[in-house]
Amino acid sequence: MEKYLFEKTMQTLFEDITKNFEKSGELSADVAKFLEMHGCADTVKHVHDVAQEARELAPRFLEKAEDAFCAGLLHDISAVFPNEDRVRVATELGIEVLPEEKTCPAILHQKISEVMAEKIFGITDPNILSAMGCHTTLKENASILDKVVFISDKIMWDQVHSAPYQSDVLKALEISLDEACFCYLDYLWQQRENLAVVHPWMAAAYKQLHDSLGK
Ligand SMILES: [Fe+2]
Ligand SMILES: [Fe+2]
Repeated sequence: MEKYLFEKTMQTLFEDITKNFEKSGELSADVAKFLEMHGCADTVKHVHDVAQEARELAPRFLEKAEDAFCAGLLHDISAVFPNEDRVRVATELGIEVLPEEKTCPAILHQKISEVMAEKIFGITDPNILSAMGCHTTLKENASILDKVVFISDKIMWDQVHSAPYQSDVLKALEISLDEACFCYLDYLWQQRENLAVVHPWMAAAYKQLHDSLGK
């Protein structure tokens, strides 16, 4: 699709979901309002917990606390789109949809959040956008901010299935941020045969940390 057509489709899509949404300028309140008006009240607590955790962690790793807070607030903003719509929405937004994401569209929510944060909430800092865009899988050459948001999301896990890795991740975090990221990715890697898909970003992040940490 031509770039112009993408812009047009994106505009229509976002006009639909931002009807009657007026921002106050206070991001935390605006995120809550937006999620609530789309029936995602459950996500409000989670994103605030992740944002708070990321804000507390960031200074330990010399990252700006407010950047981490902002990325945490917006990382799951795409919850407003149900799983069954995510391939279509991503395609309409001009996002590259990988075969693994077609099989498991839930993973696409990280990329859709990144676009929504920019186009609806006016976030322009590429570092903050990047952290939202890889918060589920991480990626190769992830930044400190990417890792802070990724690990905050895992610590503040809110999904129905349990998170048995949490105490190990917290222990690893005492050693380093990379150890904590590796700990979670290794938990996934060890059960990769049973995962719906092995996302290539996750595999690349895992292998890079595996090598750099000398595992
Ligand atoms: Fe998420
Ligand atoms: Fe999340």
